[in-house]
Amino acid sequence: MTDDNTSTAGADDLALDPWGSTTVSDYRKLFEEFGIEAFEDVLDEVPAPHYLMRRAIIFGHRDYRRVASAMRNDEPFAALSGFMPTGDPHIGHKMVFDEIIWHQQQGGDAYALIADLEAHSARGLDWDEIDEHAKDYLLSLLALGFDAEAGELYRQSTNRELQDLAFELGIEANFSEFEAIYGFGGDTDVSHMQSVVTQMADILYPQLDEPKPTVIPVGPDQDPHVRFARDLAERTRYFKVTEAFASVAFDDDERPLVRAAYDARGEYAEDADQPRCTEAADWLEAGPEAAAGFDAETVDAVVQKLENAGMEPLRPRIRFFDRQATDEAFEALIGEIAGEKRVFDGHVDAFDMEMETAEDLALAVEVDHGGYGFVPPSSVYHRFMTGLTGGKMSSSIPASHISLLDDPEDGYDKVKSATTGGRETAEKQRELGGEADECPVYELYAYLLAGDDDGLAEDVYSECVNGERLCGGCKEQAAELMQEFLEDHQKKREEAREVLADLDIELDAAGSRA
Ligand code: TRP
Ligand code: SF4
Repeated sequence: MTDDNTSTAGADDLALDPWGSTTVSDYRKLFEEFGIEAFEDVLDEVPAPHYLMRRAIIFGHRDYRRVASAMRNDEPFAALSGFMPTGDPHIGHKMVFDEIIWHQQQGGDAYALIADLEAHSARGLDWDEIDEHAKDYLLSLLALGFDAEAGELYRQSTNRELQDLAFELGIEANFSEFEAIYGFGGDTDVSHMQSVVTQMADILYPQLDEPKPTVIPVGPDQDPHVRFARDLAERTRYFKVTEAFASVAFDDDERPLVRAAYDARGEYAEDADQPRCTEAADWLEAGPEAAAGFDAETVDAVVQKLENAGMEPLRPRIRFFDRQATDEAFEALIGEIAGEKRVFDGHVDAFDMEMETAEDLALAVEVDHGGYGFVPPSSVYHRFMTGLTGGKMSSSIPASHISLLDDPEDGYDKVKSATTGGRETAEKQRELGGEADECPVYELYAYLLAGDDDGLAEDVYSECVNGERLCGGCKEQAAELMQEFLEDHQKKREEAREVLADLDIELDAAGSRA
């Protein structure tokens, strides 16, 4: 949730801007335009999914399959998210706290960080405010069940290892990318840029001990950061492992077509055990069915390359490119490849190897030789809650959100005065039913108040749309639940003070800074 207006993007065009005012009116567009995948598609792979997942409030993901699979197989995985201490923690943050805690309870290593460098540089908060808010975020996180002994909490500014990683990652990032991804320009201050590489380091930090699938639960406004971190992670890798078919290199778009040509070799090769590149080229040029799904440019490019390769046999293999490997690491990799192999300048082809084995080998050699071996980080995206007053939930409009520090009675009052999806009159409501899908109060039930109780959320929904539920009573029930939640949460926050005091985390940064 962000509320300043440094963004150049309008409210409804779909620019995902981490520091802008992202409102997402159509979540489907995120799938089409940004390649975020629907969470629904992995839901089945998640053992005992969280209610935010079951209710599709977590609507999207990148690469979450790896995390789900680690979870199922009792393999290491991690979850990390970060919070800018710009105001009080509120019910929007609670969702993310819960997501981290849930992953911790599922056996993951859990991390939460205070993005104080970002708050200071991108939002201009002073260190006193940052200190105060940082403490409040941490207390709520602990109160909601974060196990600080098993997990790790840190603030960006005092984490030396993190800063070292940020510096290394900064070597892979250049200014044109900052321009393209974040709209940075000549007037962007250097510390803001530093806060970006720091976030890249945050995202990869859980893998410093050992590479592992890592999920970053965030709002979709943070997706540019996730994509950039995935890119940087890949760039630090020692080897790139791809499928190859001949000495010539095919790019990612072309490879599936070459694979199709190889698979169809029986149709055109004089000797099916040894299809020739030129034979495959001729076959492709004739426009076989197998090439139908590919655009003409790709087909042309592949035909050209195959023709140039002439009589060379078309033969599948795994190719390891040397990207950032030390000489010793490259030598070691070559040594470890079993079966037939061919060594070239800058890459090595392995003929008797499966992709998965190859990837594992590349990773093992990298880690053995001092590389990070980063697994591309995964992410999950949750929907933004509608403000209680309708419109965007924003920390700068107190009535639009409920702070976790709100007096429980104020919380009660805010729910009672919330906008609803109800009709003008009770009579109409009974006749037409309410519009639960448009109702911030229904959202409160689904996102928070119903907790793990799907039955309650479903009842509210169906009673509402069937006209059996009227807004007055519905809000009363929600308001009471909210009040209870806040009372309980605040009690637990008090209990967490002791835990926080014992943690090894600097809470007085202002003291040592200007
Ligand atoms: N940029 C995030 C925000 O605006 C905060 C953040 C910093 C973060 N580092 C992170 C989020 C790492 C997720 C992962 O709130
Ligand atoms: Fe919203 Fe409840 Fe009214 Fe339905 S009955 S519109 S859920 S407040």
